[in-house]
Amino acid sequence: MNKIIPYSRQSVDQDDIAAVVSILESDYLTQGPAIAKFESAIAEYTGARYCVVFSSGTAALHAAYFAAGLGEGDEIITSPITFVATSNAALYLRAKPVFSDVETDTANLDIGKIEGKINKNTKIIVPVHYSGHPVDLENIRALGDKYGLMVIEDACHALGAQYKGGQSKAKNQKVDTRNDEWTRIGSCTHSDMTILSFHPVKHIATGEGGAVLTWNKLLYDRLLMFRSHGITKNRIDFTGTGTPGQGEWYYEMQLLGYNYRMTDIQAALGYSQLTKIKRFIEARREIAAYYNHVFQDNPYFDTPIERDYGRSSYHLYTIRLKEHLVDKQAPIFARLREEALGVQVLYIPVYLQPYYQKLGYKAGLCPVAEDFYGRAISIPIFHGMTPSDRDEVIKRVLRVLKEEEQS
Ligand SMILES: Cc1ncc(COP(=O)(O)O)c(C=O)c1O
Repeated sequence: MNKIIPYSRQSVDQDDIAAVVSILESDYLTQGPAIAKFESAIAEYTGARYCVVFSSGTAALHAAYFAAGLGEGDEIITSPITFVATSNAALYLRAKPVFSDVETDTANLDIGKIEGKINKNTKIIVPVHYSGHPVDLENIRALGDKYGLMVIEDACHALGAQYKGGQSKAKNQKVDTRNDEWTRIGSCTHSDMTILSFHPVKHIATGEGGAVLTWNKLLYDRLLMFRSHGITKNRIDFTGTGTPGQGEWYYEMQLLGYNYRMTDIQAALGYSQLTKIKRFIEARREIAAYYNHVFQDNPYFDTPIERDYGRSSYHLYTIRLKEHLVDKQAPIFARLREEALGVQVLYIPVYLQPYYQKLGYKAGLCPVAEDFYGRAISIPIFHGMTPSDRDEVIKRVLRVLKEEEQS
């Protein structure tokens, strides 16, 4: 019986467990000090000014779009090669997701195609750093500035990734100038907000969890309110239009928010995980480099590439089947699963989902994305992988592909 090797998973050690237990023994399971501590640590690590953590990456996306003022009749432009949450969060606000095609090799938005999708209703460009490989943010920002659009990065795959670009062209934006060469994804050097997810398959885990990063105080204030029912307890923010004669208990609900809070239990786990991020990212990058080396010039598939402006954090390692094996994607996938590899096909272009088809999106909309979907298989990569796991993956992958090529 082969050892099951998932496509990704969390690594939790005794320090993480102790951090969680200490919260369980404390006064606050939620709305306590562990939240601010985790938020400061993420802001510090990424280089953004503000961080607001949420109950999931999806909640963080919803909040960011809300904070950006997205509403009925507005459009976002995003990639179809993403998890459905990226565009669903626009639908929550009755806005329209517009899908723009991707690059063949990175599966990130093809910047040259975005401009053709911009119209008077477009409000936000939402690049997704697919698999942890950064989008060319400088050029996305330039497009955003040309048309007065916000840029919100879906970096749910990309905590720990790095981008090399010039200074931000963003207006009214205070920019992190500590490093004008390589910046961490999440620094918001070229965007208005950046979204993270802390699902266990990601770089750090909180069970469920997410975050929005920004430099913008107004957005930050809206994110905080949206996370907690639209309520503010800050005296200076009161409108004065509520009940007169208020006492110390007084708070105001000023907009329709949600309960999207993270618990202190999760935040403590996240903080403890974040202390190990350097090792986690290095481990993923080493595995990817090893795969790239072993798989180079193989006759079955292309391996992920890294552009000179990006350092991927390898949330995924997605291989792309060569032309002669495209028709065999389903049997290859089934055989890899039989070999106890937790492979995935990430992603089905979002607009091909039945819900989106009912909304009127048509197959053929983004041909490069559809072609990518027909070739993609994400094979295991995670920071806790042992050298023997890695060698097993290589052995099983090459064996299955050889067999399927000959069948
Ligand atoms: C690209 C992308 N965006 C958004 C999300 C949503 O994050 P979460 O699962 O934390 O809600 C995910 C999660 O898989 C994702 O991969």
